[in-house]
Amino acid sequence: MKKSIPPENGFCPQTLFLYGTYREDGSPNFGLFCWFSYYWDAGLGVMACIGGEKLTKERIRNTKIFSANLVTEELLPLADYWGNKVGNTENKMNVSVEVEKGSVLDIPILTKSPWVYELEVDRFIPLDEGEVLLCKIKNVLVDGELFDGNFTHEQKIKFIKPAQTVGGTYFAWNGDALGAWGELMKKVSYK
Ligand SMILES: Cc1cc2nc3c(=O)[nH]c(=O)nc-3n(C[C@H](O)[C@H](O)[C@H](O)COP(=O)(O)O)c2cc1C
Repeated sequence: MKKSIPPENGFCPQTLFLYGTYREDGSPNFGLFCWFSYYWDAGLGVMACIGGEKLTKERIRNTKIFSANLVTEELLPLADYWGNKVGNTENKMNVSVEVEKGSVLDIPILTKSPWVYELEVDRFIPLDEGEVLLCKIKNVLVDGELFDGNFTHEQKIKFIKPAQTVGGTYFAWNGDALGAWGELMKKVSYK
């Protein structure tokens, strides 16, 4: 028997991405995002929703470009930290992490992420409180060894271990709970 509940997505698994932008001083900034999906318009595009004002949104408005780095179990503590620490705080990036430049866009990307989109915003759609961004995928950077065609998707998933989130908890692909939002960031060591 079905029952009606108020609007929510509390039981719908979501994939996590870290959006990378350069701050005004040229240093990298990362924020955690899950309202991320795809659309088709003479090519595959990415649609993202950013709610409220935040540094990531400000930098994307200014530069129109950003990276979306797939979050793996290995990256999860950092991702949780960057999702709970506001960008406009000086020490947000005082953590040990390998960052490099995009291949076609001037954006920071995470070396450890096995699947990275280089995105350019095509349309900003401001809403009452949030904003939807329709983005052109200018490039996809993948782990060369893993995506050379010899591994099955099952093998890649097992190796990469992409993280999921459901209702305020992070999950592994096998359904194991990995920790609540705000809990895993405690494992991050500061520089
Ligand atoms: C699991 C998780 C998912 C999130 N997803 C989104 C999202 O899809 N959209 C959004 O606007 N904020 C999202 N956030 C909040 C941002 O990560 C947060 O506002 C962060 O401070 C953004 O970084 P910034 O301040 O450096 O821009 C999420 C946070 C967490 C913990």
